[in-house]
Amino acid sequence: NATVLTDQFGRRIDYVRLSVTDRCDLRCSYCMPEGFTGFEEPEHWLNFDEIERLIGAFARLGVSRIRLTGGEPLLRRDIAGLAGRIAALPGIHDLSMSTNATQLDRHAQALKAAGVTRLNVSLDSLQQARVEKINGRDVLAKVMAGLATAQDAGFTPIKLNMVALAGTNDDEIDEMVAFCMARGFVLRLIEAMPMGDTGRNAEYLDLQQVKERLRAQFDLVETTLHGAGPARYLGTADGRFNVGFITPISQHFCQTCNRIRVAVDGTAYMCLGQEEKFEFRPLLRGGCSDAELEAAILEAINLKPERHEFNESPHKILRFMSMTGG
Ligand code: GTP
Ligand code: 5AD
Ligand code: SF4
Repeated sequence: NATVLTDQFGRRIDYVRLSVTDRCDLRCSYCMPEGFTGFEEPEHWLNFDEIERLIGAFARLGVSRIRLTGGEPLLRRDIAGLAGRIAALPGIHDLSMSTNATQLDRHAQALKAAGVTRLNVSLDSLQQARVEKINGRDVLAKVMAGLATAQDAGFTPIKLNMVALAGTNDDEIDEMVAFCMARGFVLRLIEAMPMGDTGRNAEYLDLQQVKERLRAQFDLVETTLHGAGPARYLGTADGRFNVGFITPISQHFCQTCNRIRVAVDGTAYMCLGQEEKFEFRPLLRGGCSDAELEAAILEAINLKPERHEFNESPHKILRFMSMTGG
C-alpha cells in the first residue's frame, strides 16, 4: 500500500481514465467517422471481475482517481453496478464520468447512488441543427433532459465540455457562457486534437485569445478551482461561475500529466497523443498473480512518453478518440 507510481519524468501517476466501451450513439466530427465499424469484439471486453482486479492493482500502487469514459460509458450494460464496485475499492477516492448525456436521464440516480461524484458532459452547441451537424444525431433535447435529471440527483457542479471548432460553433461561446451562468454549470472550452482521420473537418481554434476576451468581457479572475485534469480556470469574483480552458495545442500541460488510459480490451495507452501501450488482457486471462499484475503496471508506466506531438506537422494518425474517450 501507499506505493507511488512515478514515471521516467518524475510525474506521479494517480489517475486512470477507464474506457468501458468503444461504442457510441453519436458520431462527433472530431471523434469517430460516420460509417465506423471497427469496434472491439465483445469477447475482448474486460468483464467486471477483470476490471475490478486491474483497478484494484492500480489502487494498491497509489492510483486514487478513476474516470469512466467510452465511447459512451452509459452504453455499457449495468454501468452503475461497475461504478459501485470501483467506488468500493480501497484507495479509490474520486470516481467520475465523462458522458454525452443522451441516456443520462435514466442513469443519473443510480450513478449517484453507486458513488460517482463528478460528471462531465459533452455539449458543443445549444442549437438543435448544429448538434445534429457536429455530433451526428439530433439529441439536444435528450441531453437537456439528462442534465436536468442529473442536477436533480445532486450532481453539482456538472462540467460542460464544449470542443471549440473554428467556423462551426465559435460564435456560440458567449451564449454557452450565459447558459452555464444561468444553470450553474462549469463551462470548459477544449481545443480539438487531431487523432484518427474522421473524414469530417474539426477545425482547431486557438483558445488563448478567447480566454483573454472572456476574462475582460465577464470580469473573470484566475481561480483555484481545479479537477483532476488539465483545465486552467477563470471565474467570477463571487465564485458562482467558472470556465476552464483545455489547450493541448496552444499551451500543452504534459509536464503535469498524472494519468493513463485503459481501453475496453485491456490495452493501456500511456499518452493520448502517442502510441505507447501495454496489454493487460493476456495477463488477466492467463492466471497472473497480483504481484505479477503490479509488476506489469510498473513496467507499463515506464513506457509513458514525455509529451504528445499534436503540434508536429504532418500529424501522426492515431487511434480514434472514441477508443479512449479523451
Ligand atoms: P476533470 O478535470 O477531473 O473534471 O476531468 P478532465 O477534464 O480530465 O476530463 P474530461 O473527460 O472531461 O476531458 C476533457 C478534455 O480534456 C477532453 O478533450 C480530453 O481529451 C482532454 N484531456 C484529458 N486528459 C488529457 C490529457 O492527458 N492529455 C490531453 N492532450 N488531453 C486530455
Ligand atoms: N479533441 C478534443 N476533445 C475531444 N473530445 C472528443 N474528441 C476530442 C478531440 N478530437 C472530448 C469530448 C468529451 C471529452 C471526454 O473529450 O468533447 O467531452
Ligand atoms: Fe499526458 Fe500525453 Fe495528455 Fe500530454 S498528451 S497531458 S503527456 S496524456
